[in-house]
Amino acid sequence: MTNLRVDLDYSGIQNKELLDYQKEVKAVHQELYSNPNSEFDFKGWLDLPINYDKKEFERIKKVAKKIQKNSEVLLVIGIGGSYLGARAVIEALTNTFYNMLPAKQRKYPQILFAGNNLSPNYMNDLIECIGEKDISINVISKSGTTTEPAIAFRIFREFMESKYGLDEARKRIYVTTDKDKGALKQLADEEEYETFVIPDNIGGRYSVLTAVGLLPIATAGIDIDKLMLGAIEAKSRYLDDNIKYNECYQYAVARNILYKKGKTNEILVNYEPKMAYFTEWWKQLFGESEGKNKKGIFPCGALFTTDLHSLGQYIQEGKRNLFETVISIEESKTDIKIKKDAENLDGLNYLEGKTMDFVNKKAMEGTIEAHIFGNVPNIKISITKLNEEAIGELIYFFELACAVSAGLLKVNPFNQPGVEAYKKNMFKLLGKP
Ligand code: PA5
Repeated sequence: MTNLRVDLDYSGIQNKELLDYQKEVKAVHQELYSNPNSEFDFKGWLDLPINYDKKEFERIKKVAKKIQKNSEVLLVIGIGGSYLGARAVIEALTNTFYNMLPAKQRKYPQILFAGNNLSPNYMNDLIECIGEKDISINVISKSGTTTEPAIAFRIFREFMESKYGLDEARKRIYVTTDKDKGALKQLADEEEYETFVIPDNIGGRYSVLTAVGLLPIATAGIDIDKLMLGAIEAKSRYLDDNIKYNECYQYAVARNILYKKGKTNEILVNYEPKMAYFTEWWKQLFGESEGKNKKGIFPCGALFTTDLHSLGQYIQEGKRNLFETVISIEESKTDIKIKKDAENLDGLNYLEGKTMDFVNKKAMEGTIEAHIFGNVPNIKISITKLNEEAIGELIYFFELACAVSAGLLKVNPFNQPGVEAYKKNMFKLLGKP
């Protein structure tokens, strides 16, 4: 049990306003669960926690072990939905300075990322950082044609082949892509790379619990069985179409109510730096799913208390089109007691015996109160601990909430036609045939 809870007490939303959505929610729920596995509807993620390729799941664990044994670095090449989920989970569940720890302490390979930008500096710095280390690559692209990962993979294929020779390079390259379409699939077949499949009925931003996320996550030593258990828990917990009993649907409805009241920007707030990339994953999930037909809440993120010293002023007193969704982690994994200082020059002795987590929690309580006073409604989502189960549950919770929220907004959550606009212009400027 992960005990995820949604608290709307400070959202300014009355119970009646929520319940008024019951009919609409029921309709969206029915639409979502009618023919859930239709390949064309991209709803495979709904049943994924129980309905996944068990053989492939075991193979992921086996390959992760192999990479842990023969590599100091796993380079994950991908962008958007083929990147953010893995990074979010790894950063949430490993040491904050994981990649910087000495190998012995880290126990598992460094996990580095490429193909998520077009900066030559990033690429050259990455190559310098990898240096002579032993490396494996997981290149991930559902379409198999995305420019950023394709360029990165071209560069790193050459890197691998000159470092290891053709045969050994082939054994160290793992491809996650469509089961039969796309340039990457063709390349993988020709080069005989080991491949993993992104199911047809699961879109990029909903794919973290497929091989897309699971291979890098397992390689970082994270228990993917427990991650799936958390998602299973969420799947069964949020099945009820009655808003009264379904906190996931309450969150989806609350967002829509606030949106209609002019709160067009949602800030996902964390007080734990480990969750910074979870916010990035969440931003893509909601941004690409809802931002269509001139509609949608703009999803942004903040890390507190860090950003209270940068965005805090705007949130407190700027344009009043914001609401906050705070993820509260009740029990910190570790803590530090503040000691007495004989001279007390910093004036902190009043905190003697208190812990840093206690101070962090008081900062959270005080900030929520101040922001409510500043007319920034608050939704609080609490988890007991930051562990595999909780992250699995949060992933499924937000995926489902996003689909329902988009349904209420009457946009299709599973396409992203707008992403093509920049590509079209870029290809024209690049003279792509
Ligand atoms: O959610 C999505 O579908 C997108 O963000 C894709 O994941 C992203 O564009 C990468 O696409 P691909 O996996 O085809 O390289």
